Amino acid sequence: MENKGELRKEIIAVFNRRYATKKFDPTKKIDPADWQVILEAARLSPSSFGYEPWKFLLIENEQIKEDLKDFAWGAVNSINGASHLLLCLARTDVTADSDYVKHLVEDVFQNKYDPHSPRTDAFRNFQKHDFQLNDPQTLFDWACKQTYIALGNMLTTAAWLGIDSCPIEGFNREKLTDYLVSHDLMDPKHFGVSYLAGFGYRDQEITPKKRQPLTDIYQVI
Ligand SMILES: Cc1cc2nc3c(=O)[nH]c(=O)nc-3n(C[C@H](O)[C@H](O)[C@H](O)COP(=O)(O)O)c2cc1C
Repeated sequence: MENKGELRKEIIAVFNRRYATKKFDPTKKIDPADWQVILEAARLSPSSFGYEPWKFLLIENEQIKEDLKDFAWGAVNSINGASHLLLCLARTDVTADSDYVKHLVEDVFQNKYDPHSPRTDAFRNFQKHDFQLNDPQTLFDWACKQTYIALGNMLTTAAWLGIDSCPIEGFNREKLTDYLVSHDLMDPKHFGVSYLAGFGYRDQEITPKKRQPLTDIYQVI
């Protein structure tokens, strides 16, 4: 786009266009090519040390969707009408000496894994001392935080493509975890539940944004 002013307006329009959709039109389906772009926005998201602590499950199975209604109250609107229901898992095993990190270093980054390379030592030191990610819950929470970057990117990308969405934390995490594990859908040794998100087309007016003014949330120091 040549005109920067137009680009700025377009960006703000996209952010105003995105809203947490409470009612989806069940007859409208997302074009597969659009869905691939939304997934790319997630895949290309930044992560700490580049270790991508996430996995995304697209729930198409109608029985699973029905079952989820029992403990995912915040997802019912999406289950009833959204074209796509996504479940994001966060990894529990992103540590310097894990098989997962070894796999990424060797198979994705195409480097030789060395447990005492400067990079591995720096990561171990960061986890242990700087962020004190020394117990399973803290480690999992740290991974979850990163999955929300992918969520934000997916929601914005969807809005850009004219697709509505709803981020969802409205579920009982323990019950959802038990369900996924007992149905062999998630290995708790490596993953935990981060969030759900619905994507589709609204069947209601967009809710106008209610936000604090910038002066209340932004300070130059
Ligand atoms: C982490 C997170 C979890 C949310 N969980 C739910 C949910 O379970 N169900 C729902 O309908 N909306 C959910 N929302 C939507 C918020 O209520 C909504 O984003 C907020 O009220 C601001 O409105 P807007 O997104 O329409 O601008 C969630 C939003 C975020 C970011």
